[in-house]
Amino acid sequence: MSTVVVTGTQWGDEGKGKIVDYLAQQADTVVRYQGGSNAGHTVVVDGEAYKLRLMPSGILYKGAHCVVGNGVVFDPKIFLEEMDGLAARGIDLSGIRISNRAHVVLPYHSIMDGIGDEKRGKNKIGTTKRGIGPCYMDKANRIGIRVCDFIDPDEFARRLKEVLAIKNKELKLLYDHEPLDYDAVLKEYLGYADRLRPYVCDTIALLHDEIKQGRKILFEGAQATMLDIDYGTYPYVTASHPISGGVPVGAGVAPRDIDKVVGIVKAYCTRVGEGPFPTEQLNAIGDRIREEGHEYGVVTGRPRRTGWLDACVVRYAGMLSGIDYMAVTRLDILDNFDEIKMCVDYKYKGEILHEIPASLKVLAEVEPVYETFPGWKCDITKVRKYEDLPENAKKYLERMAEVTGIKLGIVSVGPNRDETIVIAKDIF
Ligand code: IMP
Repeated sequence: MSTVVVTGTQWGDEGKGKIVDYLAQQADTVVRYQGGSNAGHTVVVDGEAYKLRLMPSGILYKGAHCVVGNGVVFDPKIFLEEMDGLAARGIDLSGIRISNRAHVVLPYHSIMDGIGDEKRGKNKIGTTKRGIGPCYMDKANRIGIRVCDFIDPDEFARRLKEVLAIKNKELKLLYDHEPLDYDAVLKEYLGYADRLRPYVCDTIALLHDEIKQGRKILFEGAQATMLDIDYGTYPYVTASHPISGGVPVGAGVAPRDIDKVVGIVKAYCTRVGEGPFPTEQLNAIGDRIREEGHEYGVVTGRPRRTGWLDACVVRYAGMLSGIDYMAVTRLDILDNFDEIKMCVDYKYKGEILHEIPASLKVLAEVEPVYETFPGWKCDITKVRKYEDLPENAKKYLERMAEVTGIKLGIVSVGPNRDETIVIAKDIF
C-alpha cells in the first residue's frame, strides 16, 4: 500500500502543482478530494506551462488515473474546457474518472457567488466567483445535484426543474438577478453530460480496488490549511477541507489507508482575497516578493498579498494534517534578498501565544516574532543536492524544520520538473 496526501500549509498558491507533478511521476493514480475550479495549479513540463483548475495534475502522465473525488464540486463546463485545451496540446484524456457522487456546479452557483460576495461590501471574502461556496451550500442543504443524476437525462431534467424553481426565486429576491431559463440550462448541460458520461464511475470502489492492489495513489489537495472551513481564518476561507482529514471524506478512503502526508510550504507567504495575514509586508519588501515571484492569481489574475514565512501557520498545519515531510517551494525567489525573515511565534498583548487564535480580531492584532537570516545572494536554480545549497539557505531551511517540527522532504529551486532537490527518498 502506498498512498500520499499533498496538502498546502499556508493560504494556497504554495506551488503544490509542481510538487504534485513531481510525485505524480511515481503515482498510478492522482485524486482531487475537495474544492473545485477555484484551484489554480501551474505545472511546467519541458518548459511548457499547464494551468490546471479542476483537472487532477496526473493528467500530464500517460497511463495515470485522474480521479475527481466525491468531495469535489464539479463544474462540467469548466472541466470540458480544460479537457479540450489539454487534448489540443496532445494530452491523453483516457485516465479521467469522475465520481458519480460529486456535486455539480450549475450556472446559478457562480452567479450567486459573484453577486453574493460583492453584496457583503467591506466584509467580502474575495472568492474566486466559481460557485464553490453556493454549491457546497446546496449540498449541505440537500438540494444539490450529483453527477449520477446529472448524467441521467430524465433524472437531471426532473431535479433541475425542482431546484431551478427555488433558485430562480432566490435569484430574483436576494440577488436582484433575472431568472435562468430552464430549457436553455437543460439543453446546455445535457450536452455536457453526454460528453462526460463515459468518464463517470464509482470512484470509491475504484480507489479501494487500487489500494488493495498496492497501486500508488496521490491525493492532491487544493487551497490550503488556512483556507480550511473549520481550521482556517473563518469566514475568510473556502467551503471545503483541504487538510489531510479531507481525504477520507472527499475520496471515500479510510483514514488508516493514508500512508504519508507531504505539506507544501512556500519559502515566503502569500494570500489572495481578504482576511488577516500576520506577516504581510505592505511595503517595498512585499512588492519585491510579488515581482520576483510573479505572485498573481492563476484563476483570477489578482495580485497576491505577500509577506515573510509564517512558521506558526506551518506548525499548525503540521499538527492538523500529520505532515511527515515539508516540500519547500520557491526558495530561489529569495536568491537576491540581503536578509530574510521568518515569523517563529506570535505575541499578543505582550505574551507569546501558543495556539493560532480562532478570533480574527486577535489574529489581526498579533505581533509576529521574527528571526532574521542573512540572504545567500546567489542563483540556486542549478543546485540538485541538498549539501550543495549555500550555507545561509541551509540555515534558513533547518530553522524552518526546527520551528515547525516537520522534516524537510523536498526543496524546489525553480519551476521546472528537474529543478528539485529530493531529500526524502521514501515518500512513495
Ligand atoms: P472560494 O474558494 O472561491 O469560495 O474563495 C474563498 C477564499 O479562498 C478566497 O479568499 C479565495 O481567494 C481563496 N481561494 C480559493 N481557491 C484558492 C486557491 O487555489 N489559492 C489561493 N486562494 C484560494
